[in-house]
Amino acid sequence: MRILVTGGAGFIGSNFVHRTLSTRPDTQVVVLDAMTYAANPENLAGLDPQRCRLVEGDVCDVELVDELMAEADLVVHFAAESHNDNSLHNPLAFTRSNVEGTVVLINAATRHDVRFHHISTDEVFGDLALDDPARFTPDTPYNPSSPYSASKAASDHFVRAFVRSHGLRATISNCSNNYGPRQHPEKFIPRQILNLLAGEEPRVYGTGENVRDWIHVDDHNDAVWTIIEKGEIGQTYLIGADGEHDNLAVVAELNRVFGREPGAFLHVTDRPGHDRRYAIDASSTLALGWEPRHRDFRAGLRETVEWYRGNPGWWERAREATESAYRRREVQLPK
Ligand code: NAD
Ligand code: DAU
Repeated sequence: MRILVTGGAGFIGSNFVHRTLSTRPDTQVVVLDAMTYAANPENLAGLDPQRCRLVEGDVCDVELVDELMAEADLVVHFAAESHNDNSLHNPLAFTRSNVEGTVVLINAATRHDVRFHHISTDEVFGDLALDDPARFTPDTPYNPSSPYSASKAASDHFVRAFVRSHGLRATISNCSNNYGPRQHPEKFIPRQILNLLAGEEPRVYGTGENVRDWIHVDDHNDAVWTIIEKGEIGQTYLIGADGEHDNLAVVAELNRVFGREPGAFLHVTDRPGHDRRYAIDASSTLALGWEPRHRDFRAGLRETVEWYRGNPGWWERAREATESAYRRREVQLPK
């Protein structure tokens, strides 16, 4: 099977490529990635060149996409601008890569009749109140809060419209917050791990009561394979692992890993429009036979800390650039 993986040099996409090549011997992968600040060539280092090729290019490049689509049996579309904070400052990069890029890809997939899996996010549903017992399901109405989530919501709508109007053979998955190796230092968990490794304080936005539903990146990618193999064309599947924790609890646990007081961190400027809580009802994907294997979040966090501790060459430059931008914007709040 020849698989075109867009965004395969980023966090989730590169973990998908590694996992696919090691668990599915009958696969060959072409990664299409624009190698933005979020990509790292190291993410694909050491892979068999007979089975994995990196094409540095943009998903908005109509000719290139058409050429690669003609040689693919399956597309798994991860490529996106993925960070909420950046979308508040530079929304057009998000409409371009996330909306236009998706339309370029599904246009070509329709033309070449290639099976398409669209990677999306639970953020398209907006947020839940902290005391709301509800969780997101495939029937939850779309209500995105940030320019990033709005661009992902738009891309989901385009995929559905192409399924209905053009017979595109597509499935969509909306997953909750991923953690694990190779996540960019701009994101919450790596950022706090790297602060702690540098002997600095973790930095929590606002009150820190916001809840995220954490899932290990390998569980996400296994669910994606289950949907590709067993999902129904045109359907949306939600992926999550019952991993709800507020940001204060995550920072407390990381502090414990470093032998520090759980409550030792700085409150900093809140994110405008900050979503309060995400929570996934994953019944749609569990019904296909998938189940998460990384059920111990504390153990997963410890392994993730060890990965960052062992790979300073991977993150040092990215951290420096990211952290200096954050520090320019952030103000410390009283506790
Ligand atoms: P990431 O930022 O780590 O990686 C994104 C990759 O896409 C990068 O390698 C980047 O270079 C590439 N890219 C960006 N614009 C491109 C373009 N125009 N053309 C080609 N390549 C381009 O992101 P991630 O966290 O790995 O997320 C991957 C996907 O999963 C995204 O679609 C995101 O919306 C979705 N998602 C992420 C999470 C999460 O917790 N990180 C959860 C659910 C869904
Ligand atoms: O839910 C899925 C989404 O999860 C994905 O679609 C996004 O691509 C991914 O980035 C992630 O979005 P979040 O905004 O939830 O992730 P982030 O890591 O940016 O922040 C997680 C929480 O931590 C959020 O409540 C904001 C908070 N935060 C973040 C940073 C970077 C802090 O308190 N301090 C920080 O320094």
